[in-house]
Amino acid sequence: MKSITIAIDGPAGAGKSTTARRVAERLGYVYIDTGAMYRAVTLAALRASTPMTNEAMGDVAASLDIVLETSSGGQLVMMNSEDVTSAIRSADVTGHVSQVSAFPLVRRALVQRQRMLGLHGGIVMDGRDIGSVVFPHAEVKIYLIADTNERVQRRLKEATARGEHISEDDVRRQIVDRDAYDSSRSESPLVKADGAHEIDTTDLTIDQQVEKILELADTYQKTYSIVSAFGNFI
Ligand code: DC
Repeated sequence: MKSITIAIDGPAGAGKSTTARRVAERLGYVYIDTGAMYRAVTLAALRASTPMTNEAMGDVAASLDIVLETSSGGQLVMMNSEDVTSAIRSADVTGHVSQVSAFPLVRRALVQRQRMLGLHGGIVMDGRDIGSVVFPHAEVKIYLIADTNERVQRRLKEATARGEHISEDDVRRQIVDRDAYDSSRSESPLVKADGAHEIDTTDLTIDQQVEKILELADTYQKTYSIVSAFGNFI
């Protein structure tokens, strides 16, 4: 079977990370959470009180060593050898990450790394611009969406599970603001990529989302094998 690239984009709380991780597990692929990379840059910049300029933020992004490791408990995010898996989910990072990720030099540095990570296929990558910019030729592109209310409840549950105390109104504000910022920025805004399959996850379980994506991957593989077989006769 061909080692393909599966690109999963969508707004915050649409279910990208959990779904992408499970799809990768089922296929024996590598899962790459690109949001975690933008979060790591934001964390480093906040800690160093880096000025909010394209150049300064671009330097942070270009010099930071970010490693995504798969562990039995999920994905570990290592930043300059420090485990920042929890720290990158803090309210402070979440409140600044959209602004940081809109800087063109930050995107340039991270997109370059993401392309290197996916050079040989066999990956499931999630984010905002994977199917549109990072891998516009990905074999399977998914655009995950869900009702705002549903996304707020999901994020609230995640925050509670992490022991955070945040009100529903604050989560809603964060999600709505982040969606608006991520969709309206001039550099690689969140869009449904050409050829992406839109899946509304509002009433779907994670298992159902995973199965839908696996079916699309399977359809691609079958089509590819038929087309390749024909190619041999021409
Ligand atoms: O998926 P997430 O919530 O962890 O992403 C955090 C932020 O990073 C999100 O608000 C926008 C940005 N991001 C991006 O601009 N491009 C990506 N490919 C992934 C995330």
